[in-house]
Amino acid sequence: MSIMDRKIVMSGIRPTGYLHLGNYFGAMRNYVKMQNEYECYYMVADLHSLTTHPDTKELRANVHRVLAENIACGLDPEKAAFFCQSHIPEISELYLYLNMLAYKGELEKTTTFKDKVRQHPENVNAGLLTYPVLMSADILIHRASFVPVGKDQEQHLEMARNFAQRFNFRYGNVFPEPQAFNFGETLLKVPSLDGSGKMSKSENQMATLYLADDDDMIRKKVMKTKTDNGPTEHNSIKPDYIENIFLLMNLVSNADVINKFEIDFNQCSIRYGDMKKQLAEDMVRFIAPIRQKATDIMNDEKYLQNVMEQGAEKGRKSAVATLQLVKESMGLKYY
Ligand code: TRP
Repeated sequence: MSIMDRKIVMSGIRPTGYLHLGNYFGAMRNYVKMQNEYECYYMVADLHSLTTHPDTKELRANVHRVLAENIACGLDPEKAAFFCQSHIPEISELYLYLNMLAYKGELEKTTTFKDKVRQHPENVNAGLLTYPVLMSADILIHRASFVPVGKDQEQHLEMARNFAQRFNFRYGNVFPEPQAFNFGETLLKVPSLDGSGKMSKSENQMATLYLADDDDMIRKKVMKTKTDNGPTEHNSIKPDYIENIFLLMNLVSNADVINKFEIDFNQCSIRYGDMKKQLAEDMVRFIAPIRQKATDIMNDEKYLQNVMEQGAEKGRKSAVATLQLVKESMGLKYY
């Protein structure tokens, strides 16, 4: 593959709180893989977070944390462009142009918008309504083809395709239509520790393993997971909550260790206490170095500033080029 047809990848990360194991095996690991094969633009969506009026002091810490945690997980600012949305003013300019192509009716029908209206009827601002337009600008400004996102963002991505189409039809071909990208079968399931679906930023803090959890917290959370007295018949089917413990082990433990517990389970000699202890130690071994690295990065403000500056420079280069094409196509060129 020549450098000319290297596909462009773009994704955004909202700077809201702590990243967890579900984020790691869902999004972050894919970002890291993709940075070696594609031209990648990864963005901290700080402007998007303004739709819900975060505390301005918290915003800074959250942006630093999201940068640090992603880098600690392997995102390499030398390979990918890793930047903050607000450092690329061209995004906001494209957002304005795209707003002229976005209809009130379709924005009001967006699922995420309707959810927000229900949750916060006192803060239905125009930024919230046009959230998908800003997200489209994030993607289209780099003329990206692939967007690694989860199911919950697919409707936004479809809107980005619509806006791209409308622009191309009206003003000439500028934008490729961005597609969702996932590694399909390699997407690993990360169950919540309380057995209620997948691991997410949930109400129940004890059900989620955060990359910032200290060793004792990790142990405490793992040891609290539900088990029972064990199977009474050889080769039984595992109850969900036991299956979940195996799934978590699959993420961080060695194959022979997992095998041993599989055999124990099938022969009714499994000791869940031992299994959870093993899982706890393997989780600690996995999370501790990430946590340590993230903390080191967060304490190094100079380094973070460098990352942001370098990222903004790379991001702007691509953004400025697109915006020039956009303005020419639209006829916004008077001399
Ligand atoms: N809306 C995305 C989320 O809530 C974050 C995001 C912002 C994004 N801009 C993006 C994702 C562009 C992909 C591409 O997770």
